[in-house]
Amino acid sequence: MTHSISISPNSAAQSDSAPAPTASYYQRHIFFCLNERGNGEACCAQHDAVAAFERCKSQVKAAGLAGPGQVRVNKAGCLDRCAAGPVAVVYPEAVWYSYVDASDIDEIVESHLRNGQVVQRLLTPADLGR
Ligand code: FES
Repeated sequence: MTHSISISPNSAAQSDSAPAPTASYYQRHIFFCLNERGNGEACCAQHDAVAAFERCKSQVKAAGLAGPGQVRVNKAGCLDRCAAGPVAVVYPEAVWYSYVDASDIDEIVESHLRNGQVVQRLLTPADLGR
């Protein structure tokens, strides 16, 4: 059995009642790896990734940066760069950070998420993967 999908100008997605498409619903997304492994292998959860995620969420909210057209802070599973963990990645710039503590998170929020300036000192080394 085969199925086909047709897209036409009359489809529901393009009706007059649908919201107008936007280039990007959020200006920036930051994803935190919160992956935890029970087998002793390196993982971001070993480095307080959940606390960093919560810190980022609260700082973004306190700065008035949260919401459509601004910033979204999201949980992620393993981003496959465990050797550099804990890691977070910011899109659309695709900038990877390896952070250590709350002050690093605060700097990412203020510099990158608010002002669009990459925090060079926290960049994940390009050659570090899993
Ligand atoms: S466990 Fe965080 S990148 Fe793999």
